[in-house]
Amino acid sequence: MSDTITLDEIKKNPFIVSYLKTADSNFAAIGYKEHGMRHAQFTATVAGNVLKHLDYPEREVELARIAGYLHDIGNSIAQNDHAQNGAVLTLDILEKMKMPYREIFQIIEAIGSHEDKNADAPSAIAAAVILGDKTDVHHTRVRSVDLSTMDMHGRVNYACERAFLRVDKNARTIALELTIDNKTCPVMDYFEIFMQRLKFCRQASKTLKCEFVLFINKDKFL
Ligand SMILES: [Fe+2]
Ligand SMILES: [Fe+2]
Repeated sequence: MSDTITLDEIKKNPFIVSYLKTADSNFAAIGYKEHGMRHAQFTATVAGNVLKHLDYPEREVELARIAGYLHDIGNSIAQNDHAQNGAVLTLDILEKMKMPYREIFQIIEAIGSHEDKNADAPSAIAAAVILGDKTDVHHTRVRSVDLSTMDMHGRVNYACERAFLRVDKNARTIALELTIDNKTCPVMDYFEIFMQRLKFCRQASKTLKCEFVLFINKDKFL
């Protein structure tokens, strides 16, 4: 057993590379936004940073990064139930890599629950993955830039020039700072599309004993 498996080793695993490429090409085929390595890396980085800034132990930070990187590999099978499918695929891969079961279970619990919008995050790692995943709003995720055919979801992502999650451990706040080009997309469209996501981020922040705050173009909304 090896309790030192790192995100760098995970990223080199050929099964993981194929699952992420397949997930992204499945989504490209239906015109859905980017869901490949960029989204995996973004989620991993933000999940790790959230726990790091809240002074969680280094190994827990690394497990959050790994769970964040792997959270959407289930999309290689289907979008429906991708969280649970991804957890099962991850169990198989991490067993083969000889990660200890106590670590595997923390990771698959976070992956399996990352779309459970009606339940509280079951752990700090799960909460961190939700925050990484649900705050990835950015114009680079949009595949076609034809505004005439773009749906509101695409427009909201396309209009987002900057998204940054700021964690303040003293104030116990987790703030999502967005810069949105409101000529492309009115701020109200953002709320219409992302209200459920924002509630999910608020719940996840609560698990981490923090308050979730939202700034759009420097105005505080939540
Ligand atoms: Fe997902
Ligand atoms: Fe995701």
